[in-house]
Amino acid sequence: MIPEKHFNSNTVICHFILLNKKYMPQSKIAGVGYYVPKNVVTNNDLLQFMDTSDEWIQERSGIKQRHYADRVGETTTTMGVEAATIAIERAGITAQDIDFIIFATLSPDYYFPGCGVLLQRAMKMKEIGALDVRNQCSGFVYALSIGDQFIKTGMYKNILIVGSEKHSFGLDFSTRGRNISVIFGDGAGAVVLQPTEKPGQGILSTHLHSDGESAEILAMYNPGTHANHWMKEPVADFEAAEMGKMFMSHEMIDKAQNFPRMDGPAVFKKAVVKFPEVVMEALNANKLETKDIGLLIPHQANLRISQFVQHQLRLRDDQVFNNIDKYGNTTAASIPIALCEAWEQGKIKEGDLVCMAAFGSGFTWGSALIRW
Ligand SMILES: CC(C)(COP(=O)(O)OP(=O)(O)OC[C@H]1O[C@@H](n2cnc3c(N)ncnc32)[C@H](O)[C@@H]1OP(=O)(O)O)[C@@H](O)C(=O)NCCC(=O)NCCS
Repeated sequence: MIPEKHFNSNTVICHFILLNKKYMPQSKIAGVGYYVPKNVVTNNDLLQFMDTSDEWIQERSGIKQRHYADRVGETTTTMGVEAATIAIERAGITAQDIDFIIFATLSPDYYFPGCGVLLQRAMKMKEIGALDVRNQCSGFVYALSIGDQFIKTGMYKNILIVGSEKHSFGLDFSTRGRNISVIFGDGAGAVVLQPTEKPGQGILSTHLHSDGESAEILAMYNPGTHANHWMKEPVADFEAAEMGKMFMSHEMIDKAQNFPRMDGPAVFKKAVVKFPEVVMEALNANKLETKDIGLLIPHQANLRISQFVQHQLRLRDDQVFNNIDKYGNTTAASIPIALCEAWEQGKIKEGDLVCMAAFGSGFTWGSALIRW
């Protein structure tokens, strides 16, 4: 017990600060890495599969090319491993030091188990926890927020967060699917989160949202267990299907139910409202203003969306990072790829305020504000 004469209000404050310091560190991004497959597919290359044009794609989305993984030998997980290897090395640690994995993707190697355990195996990591996040385009921001909470509580010291997608395996490359398939690309990005002792440094706050009202606007229905429950119009005849043929059937494949579907204009309209809103939410929470942003890294959904957001927030060109022209929309990988590229190009320096914002299927959206 502390003798009463030593127990004054200063001691209480000191103990409180020490406890807080011990149990509530901020998280910093200690290492970043990204990987894109070598195979570059231009807009003109897509003409061999569907009725589209370079002009249409560039005008509507800003995309000039994307990368596709090798059909065999490269998976969502192996691309994640490539990105993770770089991030871990840059954090000055080894794969053995990682004590938790968070893997965000909508294009996993298997329906289950998730990519987290496949990465744990491939990187010969210890028997640590591996969590898979299924929040599509906001997957990375959600994963970052989860990692941040684990660091703040002191539970983990080195968290690996990966966003990776192998979209090229699961898109409809006929003209029927052209509004979606031209947009997406493959790739992976990763970061290592660690606690920081430096006051004011690291993740200042994260903000997560969802609105399931329009869940079917951007979705892949099958395989699934919905049996038309949420559908205005039935998508397959689940009543008549034989036992064992409800999850995936020839009918579903014939009707292209195994491909993602999207009402592009509806997604666009919602995105241009929610992106600026969630950026402002992060700034307001930290009593900061748009002029304080060193770099905004929006999820690379569509260049037109990013430009709209930039205009709404009155940001200068040098405050917004875009690379969708080279990679297309890589969903959960897009923010960590962009973050890593921006960092490699010297666009993020110590002390800079970096804001990440994402919006996508669900709808889910979110932001993270970081003092680098
Ligand atoms: C997908 C998107 C680029 C389409 O652009 P758009 O201007 O909204 O185009 P629409 O879907 O209204 O289609 C317009 C026309 O182009 C056609 N079209 C669609 N895809 C095409 C393609 N790849 N090539 C040529 N024409 C195409 C359509 O068939 C339609 O033709 P019609 O007018 O004769 O019926 C745009 O809606 C978008 O980016 N939305 C947001 C999507 C998004 O961000 N998704 C990821 C989630 S974060």
